[in-house]
Amino acid sequence: MAKNNTIWNKKDLLGLEELSREEIEVILSTAGSFKEVSTRKVKKVPTLRGKTVVSIFCEPSTRTRLSFELAAKRLSADTVGITSSTSSAVKGETLKDTAKNIEAMNVDVVILRHTTPGAPHLLAKTLEPSVINAGDGAHEHPTQGLLDIFTMKEKKGKVKGLKVSIIGDIAHSRVARSNIWGLKKLGADVTICGPSTLMPVEIEKMGVSVTNSLDEAIEDADVLNVLRIQLERQKKGLFPSIREYINLFGINRQRLKHAKKDILIMHPGPINRGIELTHDVADGPYSVILEQVTNGIAVRMAILFLVTGGKI
Ligand code: CP
Repeated sequence: MAKNNTIWNKKDLLGLEELSREEIEVILSTAGSFKEVSTRKVKKVPTLRGKTVVSIFCEPSTRTRLSFELAAKRLSADTVGITSSTSSAVKGETLKDTAKNIEAMNVDVVILRHTTPGAPHLLAKTLEPSVINAGDGAHEHPTQGLLDIFTMKEKKGKVKGLKVSIIGDIAHSRVARSNIWGLKKLGADVTICGPSTLMPVEIEKMGVSVTNSLDEAIEDADVLNVLRIQLERQKKGLFPSIREYINLFGINRQRLKHAKKDILIMHPGPINRGIELTHDVADGPYSVILEQVTNGIAVRMAILFLVTGGKI
């Protein structure tokens, strides 16, 4: 089921771990070509006319779900979607059965967000349509990683040699994992920073530097990618209190006093305002958070185009 393309020959997009540097670069350059479409008066090209894109979201989403839907519509694909709470999953139907039934409706792409790591990989093995991972548990969120890297490249002109610090709950973050895989493949220097209890074991093996000092992570950084703190973790005692988290890892203007003058502040959303970022930082001059959202559509257009066999 390989696609006929010189660089891109994958049916599915499951994670950045399995992509080569060249494949990531193809996605980024294709996204660069598609970005202009969203600025047109008529935001549509006929590229995927006649194709059907189905989304299955088994976890809440605002950005990823809408962004995929808009990306598919701007490529003229037909789109439909279900969530676990409104599908027959509530009657006990398995994910595989759900997906096989969707396949029987002759669709071209299935986009899946699921709580279980590896769920998209399982579907990709059994389904004829392309499968795109829209976030699987704490494993990967490849389209978020790609739109983050696209935004860094757009703003800084390069990825190789960039100093990127990822701040927060690394252990439970699929965004962190996809960023690390992608950034390392493109030659960035990655530092991760957060409470020791929210650091994965042996994370250094991914080629990152590790620190518990926010000041150290900010010093020399070109980019801070700040993760959402998953508040449910606090209930499990993985960090003592929100107040302490804010004191040690919250980004405010004071903490940025010694940062590079052109530092980028990124966040995948949704933001816990006043916890990971103060309002003035989230909405301030260094923030490119909404540009990440804009770029998400271009990146997802590129991925839909490539997995359905688009030629570059
Ligand atoms: N960044 C992200 O995945 O946001 P959503 O959960 O709203 O899709």
